[in-house]
Amino acid sequence: MMKKPYDRLVPYNNLPELPPTKEILDTELLLKWGIASRILAELNKNLLRIPNPDLLINTISLREAQDSTEIENIFTTQDDLYKAVSESVQEDNLNASTKEVLRYREALWGGFTTLVSNQQLDQETIVSVFQKIKNTTQSYRTPQSQVVIRRGESELRPGEIVYTPPRGEGIIEAKIINLLEFMNTENGLDPLLKMAVAHYQFEAIHPFIDGNGRTGRILNLLYLVDQKLLSHPVLYLSKYIIQHKEDYYYLLSGVTQRNDWKSWLMYMMTAIESTARHTNQIIDDILLQMEATFEYAKKSLKWYSHELNQTLFSQPYIKQKTVGQITGAKSRTTLTKYMSQLVKLGILSVKEDGREVFFVNDDLIRILES
Ligand SMILES: Nc1ncnc2c1ncn2[C@@H]1O[C@H](COP(=O)(O)OP(=O)(O)OP(=O)(O)O)[C@@H](O)[C@H]1O
Ligand SMILES: [Mg+2]
Repeated sequence: MMKKPYDRLVPYNNLPELPPTKEILDTELLLKWGIASRILAELNKNLLRIPNPDLLINTISLREAQDSTEIENIFTTQDDLYKAVSESVQEDNLNASTKEVLRYREALWGGFTTLVSNQQLDQETIVSVFQKIKNTTQSYRTPQSQVVIRRGESELRPGEIVYTPPRGEGIIEAKIINLLEFMNTENGLDPLLKMAVAHYQFEAIHPFIDGNGRTGRILNLLYLVDQKLLSHPVLYLSKYIIQHKEDYYYLLSGVTQRNDWKSWLMYMMTAIESTARHTNQIIDDILLQMEATFEYAKKSLKWYSHELNQTLFSQPYIKQKTVGQITGAKSRTTLTKYMSQLVKLGILSVKEDGREVFFVNDDLIRILES
């Protein structure tokens, strides 16, 4: 009997289990994989150079969150975001997109914590990442939910259906179990390639009502950590994917419709190579700037310390209170003097927002936005 042709309007309950039965490796792909692995290994090594990784990683993950939620580069939005991470703003006063970015970042860190304590990627990790992103207590979508993926969707028209994910009692659970087994079992395929295969599979299963793209992109990073390719979930993978979204959608469909694993995997290896390079650049730039700022500040300010320097590079917006805690300034007058010295030297600039005053590290912003 002939295999029925793929129909994008029918739930794809025949989505094949992993691993792919077809031989997916060829020379061209292996060469590409080699380059991607090498650059990623450089990034992982580069992370060791960061003196206080948690602080700096905080800054870097902010960018990832921002790109993945596709918040545009409007300054006011950025501004809101930076203020929000300086942790002095009431949640209610944040706009919707800022909240969304912050939730994405929390989901990334929450997932990282769950992964570290569970010691492998499991259903709990996947569901908890989704729940944080969407701020919900829901889990997998129900068998009757009518979820489809549309292309070119806009406020004016719904767009054409490009894919209908599997649907039915127990089917999502079964496919997720197979996916996790593939991810967690050694099977001769390199983890970097497995990440890419798994990302396709996760998106094809489309286990949630919404947020599958974002959840899947977080899982990519967590998997790299799980497989010890990265010590921390920092890699601007989302930026590349969002910038090449048309290809991304097209190539995902290519696996479904033509079993074209090769083009998909080539794309993902390129994405990893390009983003690991970019992340390395950002780390280099931040470290260079930190050093320069320290040397410069130390010349005029006896009280300037490495710890303060690190804190000034942990987030773009800093509150006076934070500087007070680190320097241990004895009085308000001293602290005010410290702040005005930092401003006078051009290390920070002042930004007033109603009654709130922020001190901004413009060098850090410039690097983060490069
Ligand atoms: N043909 C396809 N087959 C499988 N998955 C697809 C296909 N086209 C797109 N996708 C995936 O569906 C995701 C969108 O699904 P969903 O709206 O649930 O996620 P999101 O996180 O809300 O959105 P986004 O990824 O745009 O931020 C895309 O990011 C992509 O990963
Ligand atoms: Mg969506």
